[in-house]
Amino acid sequence: MSGRIICVAQQKGGAGKTTLVSNLAIAYLLEGKRVALLDTDPQGSLGKWLDIREETLGENPNLRFATATAYGISRAIRDVCGDADIILIDTPPKADSDVRWVLRESDLVLVPISASQADVWATHDVLDLADRAEKPTHIVMNRTRAGTRVGEDVTKSVAELEAKPLKSSMANRVIYAEALGRGLGVMEAKRSGSASDEVRALAQEVSALLK
Ligand SMILES: Nc1ncnc2c1ncn2[C@@H]1O[C@H](COP(=O)(O)OP(=O)(O)OP(=O)(O)O)[C@@H](O)[C@H]1O
Ligand SMILES: [Mg+2]
Repeated sequence: MSGRIICVAQQKGGAGKTTLVSNLAIAYLLEGKRVALLDTDPQGSLGKWLDIREETLGENPNLRFATATAYGISRAIRDVCGDADIILIDTPPKADSDVRWVLRESDLVLVPISASQADVWATHDVLDLADRAEKPTHIVMNRTRAGTRVGEDVTKSVAELEAKPLKSSMANRVIYAEALGRGLGVMEAKRSGSASDEVRALAQEVSALLK
């Protein structure tokens, strides 16, 4: 198994974990990479997204999927991920000791923060766990709204966190919610446009961190 493993974690619900995982998956798939998705969240949103996708587009051998418990993640990686180039792990909205099993397997941890202070407050536990696991960790700013007071305040608070934000971010755009509901990535829902551009840039920045 030579694939690189990215874990997306954030205690705060609705911060954009599944949105980030699904969009990075499609960005890498469109680059011709083999992608494996592992969902450790019992809510099952990522599997639902894939079910809808496969109803319309059929199965893609380059996009594998399995659910796993946090404890069972290492076996799931061995059993399911095979020759995948990129393995993306979605996690539930909590930062308990379970997530340590996932962090231990990961090459990179991404922590989405949706543009609100509550998301920043909720980030400390996961950053602490990632730090103890000695894993490179970055914040991904989500639902950004340029020119707003809250956007500026959150940016300032994020700058004080241990983990640095990526340069790329995802703006607050209806297309993210639409694409998720249709089993697509935004790069497929609308090939050219701002959302596609930002996800492409994000995927490239993440790839560079994995080199
Ligand atoms: N950049 C964005 N612009 C608009 N809507 C977004 C954006 N990111 C996420 N959303 C929407 O916000 C909601 C929560 O996103 P998502 O399910 O990805 O969060 P999550 O962190 O996985 O949630 P949970 O903690 O429940 O697993 C979804 O309806 C999603 O479509
Ligand atoms: Mg989710």
